[in-house]
Amino acid sequence: MNHSRLFFSLRALTSKRLFHGKPQLKINGVVYDTHSDFTNVSSTILNLSDRSLHLEPAHPIGVLRKQIEDKLNSTSNSYQYYNDFRPVVTVEENFDSLGFPADHPGRSKSDTYYVNDKYLFRTHTSAHELECFGNIQGFSPRTEKRAPTEKPGFLITADVYRRDEIDRTHYPVFHQMEGARVWKRSSEKSSESHEPLHIQKIRDDLCKLEKQLREESSNLVVEDDKSLESNPKQDYMSDLEVDLCSQHLKRTIELLVAQVFNKKLQSMGSEDQGAQLQVRWIKAYFPWTAPSWEIEVFWKGEWLELCGCGLVREQVLLNAGYEKDSTVGWAFGLGLDRIAMLLFEIPDIRLFWTQDERFHSQFHEGQITRFQPYSKYPGTTRDVAFWLPEQKESSLIHENDIMEIVREEAGDMVESVKLIDQFTHPNSNKKSLCYRINYQSMDRNLTNEEINKIQENVRSQLVQNYKVSLR
Ligand code: DAH
Repeated sequence: MNHSRLFFSLRALTSKRLFHGKPQLKINGVVYDTHSDFTNVSSTILNLSDRSLHLEPAHPIGVLRKQIEDKLNSTSNSYQYYNDFRPVVTVEENFDSLGFPADHPGRSKSDTYYVNDKYLFRTHTSAHELECFGNIQGFSPRTEKRAPTEKPGFLITADVYRRDEIDRTHYPVFHQMEGARVWKRSSEKSSESHEPLHIQKIRDDLCKLEKQLREESSNLVVEDDKSLESNPKQDYMSDLEVDLCSQHLKRTIELLVAQVFNKKLQSMGSEDQGAQLQVRWIKAYFPWTAPSWEIEVFWKGEWLELCGCGLVREQVLLNAGYEKDSTVGWAFGLGLDRIAMLLFEIPDIRLFWTQDERFHSQFHEGQITRFQPYSKYPGTTRDVAFWLPEQKESSLIHENDIMEIVREEAGDMVESVKLIDQFTHPNSNKKSLCYRINYQSMDRNLTNEEINKIQENVRSQLVQNYKVSLR
């Protein structure tokens, strides 16, 4: 998660105006009490929360999901697929069960859409790990809402929600896939190798993956950071278990990545076909895995981060009801939108959400095709400049709050919002900010009149909500 963009303060005001103190909200059929200090979910978000783009077979996000699911299936029949999790989860599921510290910035209201103090819009698919680990038969005694599965792995696809900046690659809703795989430890030895049965099993699974990789992706060049320095293993796992599980994890992800990008290389024509595909593993940190990595792919001249992963911390498995020392396993989380933008050559993330037939008619189930822009409507910029109020506790504003106001007033008619100027007055010590808003629709021409109206609303909402003085 990128939490580096906090620049005013960690405290965000709630969007009081959005629900005018309405006592309850109905989301996907469930009624939630609102909480005046917490509720910051906007109507834009509520409207997007039942779109489920990943379930549309011919939508680029749906096509990519299916392609990855099919590929994982080809490695083994060990993964249960979950595609229908609703977006509202508990704070426990999204953060606590995964070991997020109490002061982790991801929990702040400036980054996350809260329904109330207990429920939020999931910020990642990892929020469902607890339930899915708990759902694997023979590993956990928990009785879950769903029918338990015998498969020792899972793959979840869902939309996830984060308050964020506005530009061509950021949208408050995007898509992730969460994969995981566990092995039950055994003290019984294999008669062939004289190793514990689960070690033998991981080795066998790994061998199959390596063979598949050699056969299908001989153009893959991998730079692997295997050192565990500053990427410590967990004490309960042996060095051999760490080594085998990590390799199994990395080879699984390499297979998925290679398949997706090689398919694109093929579609790009003979010159690119057979070209090397370079990936590298980099050490990372996530509260619920150790050791942890990220994989990057070298694509069109830059390293692109694709996926975070690691060996699941035992505490997560214990939280899911597993017995101590009983299980080893891995997990990964993959963002779909950026990959889909690149594969389908979609220049603006808002296009995924358009209802325009000129977009949708271009895509077909099972096919990666290049997006043909139907027309480019001109953008119009408007600046809004204001003095921030005195920095009293009640008046602190986070940049994401400004984004939220623009998003709420302009919907998908806003292309980007950028801070273009800031300074502090030497005498009054007051701070001034100026944002440039680019209004541009993907689907039609906007009139000056409608832009002026939106801009006026943005200005007055800033004053009303955050007591700024317009300049
Ligand atoms: N949930 C993480 C994110 O949104 C991605 C992730 C990283 C998922 C590591 C994992 C993992 O399961 O092991 O940034």
